[in-house]
This record gives sequence, C-alpha cells and structure tokens, in this order.
Amino acid sequence: MSVGTMNVKMIEFEVKGDERGSLVAIEECMQVPFQIKRVYYIFGTKSNVKRGAHAHKELQQVLIAVNGSCTVIVDDGFERKEFDMNCPSKGLFIDKLIWREMENFSPDCVLLVLASDYYSEADYIRDYAEFKNYVFSL
Ligand code: TYD
Repeated sequence: MSVGTMNVKMIEFEVKGDERGSLVAIEECMQVPFQIKRVYYIFGTKSNVKRGAHAHKELQQVLIAVNGSCTVIVDDGFERKEFDMNCPSKGLFIDKLIWREMENFSPDCVLLVLASDYYSEADYIRDYAEFKNYVFSL
C-alpha cells in the first residue's frame, strides 16, 4: 500500500425526480462496486456520540446519509480525510482496510450502510495501533 491511493470515494447516485419528489435506486455491482449481502442503518444517535472506530479486513461498504447529516473520518494508515455526509443521493464507498469514525450526527440522521458481506466480528480491527501494524505488514 502506498501514500495517496486511499480507496474511498463519493459516489453520486442518479436521482429520478418528478413532480412527486425524488427516488434513488441502487443495485448491486451497478451503482456500488460489490454484491450487497447486508444492509443496516444507524439512527437515533445521541449528541456527541462517536461511532465506528474500526477497520475491516475484507468488508467493503457504502455509507449514505438518507436523512440528516454526520461526518465520516477515514484513515488508511497514511492519511486522514473527512467527509460531510448530508445528501441522500451521495454514497461514500469505503474499501477494506480503512479505519473509519463517524461523528457530528444530527438528531434526525439516518445513516444507511450497504455492506459486501454478512456481519462477522472476526473481520473487525477495533484497535488503531493494531490496524496500523496490520496495514504496514502488508
Ligand atoms: P458496531 O459495529 O460496534 O457499531 P459501529 O462500529 O458502527 O459504531 O455494532 C454495534 C452492535 O451491533 C454490536 O453489538 C454488533 C452489532 N451488529 C450486528 O449484530 N450486525 C451488524 O451488521 C452490525 C453492523 C452490528
């Protein structure tokens, strides 16, 4: 792994809007670059709460603030980037081996997550020092 190649990117979904309002459709391997095996969402987050603070060994995810807003901080062991999530037609793709933290949740924030695999605690790295060692040993 090298500096400046963090595999995190904002995806803009096509909004199908008409006089009734807006609609976004997401299909696996189309608008997101993986098969979607799991969907979960985070809501009702209390003020000043920080979530995440982990990386995944294999899992890929796309995060979408379908309502409200929050901040996502990503870190590949070399650099850190911050993304303001406040648009239901934008998804943040986060590759495997990226440390992520979520904060600044608005009370109405619903953060939808599309994931490439089923839930597995064995796929998590929850310690930052361990994450850095893991990345640098690759
Ligand atoms: P956790 O991964 O700690 O949330 P975050 O890192 O996003 O703040 O998950 C919180 C709890 O929910 C934890 O007990 C594991 C459980 N969980 C599942 O059972 N399935 C899932 O798909 C996820 C993401 C979490």
